[in-house]
Amino acid sequence: MTRYADIFASARTVLERNWREGRNDCDLEFGYTCPDAEKYPDQFFWDSCFHALAWSRLDPRRAMRELRSLVAAQQPSGLIGHTTFWHGPCRLARAFTYNILERTAFQTSTIQPPLLAYVWAEVADRAGDGRFADEGRIALTRYHEYLDRERADEDGLIGILQPDESGLDATPAYDAPLGWRSHPKIGFLALQRFNRRRQYDYRRVVADGGFHATDVLVNSAWVLGWEGLARLGHPRAARRAEQLTESVVKRLFDPATGFFYAEGPDGERLNVSTWAGLAPLAIDHLPIHVCRRVIDEHLLNPERFWLSYPVPSTAATEPAFVPGNSRYLWIDRYWRGPTWLFSTWFILRGLLRLGREADAAHLVDRTASLVRDSGFREYFNPLTGEGMGARAFGTSTALVECAALADEALGEHRVVA
Ligand code: GLC
Repeated sequence: MTRYADIFASARTVLERNWREGRNDCDLEFGYTCPDAEKYPDQFFWDSCFHALAWSRLDPRRAMRELRSLVAAQQPSGLIGHTTFWHGPCRLARAFTYNILERTAFQTSTIQPPLLAYVWAEVADRAGDGRFADEGRIALTRYHEYLDRERADEDGLIGILQPDESGLDATPAYDAPLGWRSHPKIGFLALQRFNRRRQYDYRRVVADGGFHATDVLVNSAWVLGWEGLARLGHPRAARRAEQLTESVVKRLFDPATGFFYAEGPDGERLNVSTWAGLAPLAIDHLPIHVCRRVIDEHLLNPERFWLSYPVPSTAATEPAFVPGNSRYLWIDRYWRGPTWLFSTWFILRGLLRLGREADAAHLVDRTASLVRDSGFREYFNPLTGEGMGARAFGTSTALVECAALADEALGEHRVVA
C-alpha cells in the first residue's frame, strides 16, 4: 500500500472529470485530458505528457489514448503544435493571443517542450505494448525531424520564437531582450503579429531579426525526447542524446555560477535564475559534477529554490520573484514565482539519480501536502502553500507520477527526514 493512496484516488477523480473523447469534424478520433474545463478546454502538448504519466499509473490504456491523440493531431510537416482544438475553432476571446494562422485553425503553429518521445517510451514500458512503441517511433521520428529541420542550430540545440513555446509564458528569463514586448504587455501583440506574418517560421523570424532564444527547459526536453526515441528503437537516437547533452552543458551551463541559463537573440547569456535552470537534472547522462553543483549550490539553497514548498518557478533571490499572483494591469503573469507541479518531475529525477533520498522524499512530501491542503490547484504560493489559479487542474496530477517514482526508489515505508 502506497503512502500516497489518497493522492492517487483524488487524482483519478480530477483526471476522469477532465477527460474528453469523441471524433472531430474530420472524423479523427481523440481522447485526452483537458488541464481545466473552463480555462483550458483544449489539448495542450506538454500538459498531455504529464496527464499520460499520471494515467500510466492508474489506467495505462488511457495514457496510450492521450498520447495517440497528440500524434493524431500531427501536421503533414511533422509539427505537433502547442494546443489542439478538437472541439472546433478556438474561442474568439483567445483568437487574438493564440498562435494561430487563421481563426479556424485546428492547432497552434508553435511548439511546447518536446517531451513526448520520452513519455511515450515510459507509457509503452508500463503498458508492455510493443506495437504502441513502434507507432510512437514512427510518428515521433517525424516530429523530431521537423524540429531538426525547422529549429536546430549547428550544435543541434533548438530555438524558440516566443517565451510561451517554453511552456513558461511570462518567465522573467526573457524580460531583458523583450522589454515592452514581454507577456502580457502591449508589445506582446506586436511580437505575435511579427511572427504570424512569417507563418511562425522560426528560420524566417531569425533572418528578419525577430526575437528568438535557446531555452534551457525546451532543450532539456529535447534531449529527453531523443532518450525516449532511443528506447523506442530508433537506431541513432542514443548517440544524438549524448551529443545534445554535451551541447546543453557547453552552451547553457555557466561554470562560474554553476547554473543553467537561456541564451538570448544575440547569443548573450540571460542571467535570470528560473526553475528552467534546474530542468537539465532530468537528463539521464548529465555529468554528475554538473548535477551536484546545480543541486547543492542552487536547488537546496533555502534563499533561492528550497523554500517551504519547493520548487518556485523563479528563484526567490531574483528581483522579479513574486510568490503570489503576479499581475500586469488585470492580466496574470505566469511563472514568476509560484510553484507549478510540472517542474517537480524534472527535479525529482535528478535527486533520485544522485541518490539524494531524503531530499527527494522531502520534495514529494511537501508537494503532496500542497495538494492535501488545497487540492489540485494550478499553482501554489511557495512560501505559504496557498493554492491559486484553476481548481481541478489536470496537470497537477503529475504528482501521481512523482509519488510513484518516490515509492519505487525509496520504498513505501520510509522514514522522512
Ligand atoms: C499556461 C502555462 C502552460 C500550460 C497551459 C495549460 O499557459 O503557462 O505551460 O501548458 O497553461 O495548462
